[in-house]
Amino acid sequence: MCLSNGSSLMTPDEVKRYAVEVLHRFAPDEETVCTEIGDGNINYVFQVRSLRDGHSLIVKQADRLLRSSGRPLDIYRSKVEAQMLRLEASLAPGYVPEVYHYDETKAALSMEDISAYKSLRKELMAGHVYDHLAEHLSTFLAKTLLPTTDLVMDRQEKKRRVRFFIDPELCDITEDLVLTEPYYDYKGRNVITPGNEAFVETSLYRDEMLHAEVGKLRDTFMNDAQALLHGDLHSGSIFVDAQGVKIIDPEFAFYGPMGYDIGNVIGNLFFSWAYRHFTAPEDTATAQALETTICSLCDLTAAKLSAQYDALVTFPLYRAEAFRRSYLHRVMADAYGYAGTEIIRRVVGDSKVIEVTSVTDPAQRLPMERALIKMGIFLIKERERDLTGDAVVEAFRLILA
Ligand SMILES: Nc1ncnc2c1ncn2[C@@H]1O[C@H](COP(=O)(O)OP(=O)(O)OP(=O)(O)O)[C@@H](O)[C@H]1O
Ligand SMILES: [Mg+2]
Repeated sequence: MCLSNGSSLMTPDEVKRYAVEVLHRFAPDEETVCTEIGDGNINYVFQVRSLRDGHSLIVKQADRLLRSSGRPLDIYRSKVEAQMLRLEASLAPGYVPEVYHYDETKAALSMEDISAYKSLRKELMAGHVYDHLAEHLSTFLAKTLLPTTDLVMDRQEKKRRVRFFIDPELCDITEDLVLTEPYYDYKGRNVITPGNEAFVETSLYRDEMLHAEVGKLRDTFMNDAQALLHGDLHSGSIFVDAQGVKIIDPEFAFYGPMGYDIGNVIGNLFFSWAYRHFTAPEDTATAQALETTICSLCDLTAAKLSAQYDALVTFPLYRAEAFRRSYLHRVMADAYGYAGTEIIRRVVGDSKVIEVTSVTDPAQRLPMERALIKMGIFLIKERERDLTGDAVVEAFRLILA
């Protein structure tokens, strides 16, 4: 197949040859199998595996046209993803697949196969809540975000990075789908579950105070080049095993408010909790484990960012206690706000999560959606109030009661 960037999508046989001749990861006479395993909407993901000893790798190839809809999307995202994975590997070793090679002509990213890890979204849906999640996710966030800010980095180098990572088309997707349309459906793309139209109308489309708060979050997202973000840190980009996590797919990486990444991780965990509560109310143990995870994730992230700050920030003006306090307060306030916008957009927008769409009984689906929307609104409106993990989970418990 000819890709619209003039290059061509490799066939599985071509990927096998590429893995030998360009990547030198397999011997010429080694028997291998190659399968396209991508399940996302955007790119093509090939796995090549040796039949001799089982070793394997991944080649992710991007096209100018989206895999799912055929809509065009700037191919630059592939270069961003490769560069971001390399940066994340240096900041948080072991948390991302190792990049073996990036081929700009083919928009092909070759990397470590992390198939031994499982999708966090699917694991949580199945009721597998790993004890280490809050610890590892908070470490990844603190290690990758604060060191990329002006508080730590050389100012000029940071600006060069801002320039490299800016991708207007990918930012535009977030600005519309996450931070506009759920409140102002000007493109008519929202998908509202029948029965919840009036609720959405009143609570999202007509609440001017909410619009003002989302307006602030949108403006911050667009203008605050604070830290280098992953940009799409939902639980389908997080993979997990008994020991740890691997984070993939940073093609949306750009310089924005670090609360956006933190909020995406926190927000997505509420889908698992809501799913459990409405579909298996008797399974209180899993709900409790999710509650503990969310609570610890919020508090550990705040604590680790603060520790990172003390360890890494040396510039005298930024060492002033009042600045430090207000900076860290704002990061977490943003995080709760963006957790709210993430929750809401996955319920009313057209890019929903499986925890919501798989619930087909209206008797469960309608109240579940309302609870999630209420939680999203709470997080957006109350985000400035120095929320703690306890306050956040208590709020959802009250909404579910
Ligand atoms: N390094 C890897 N090792 C193993 N599996 C991988 C790896 N990278 C991607 N995959 C698999 O391919 C799937 C799609 O990958 P990814 O999310 O990066 O693609 P995408 O097309 O960018 O998706 P999206 O529509 O979510 O942006 C993942 O869910 C995972 O199952
Ligand atoms: Mg992707």
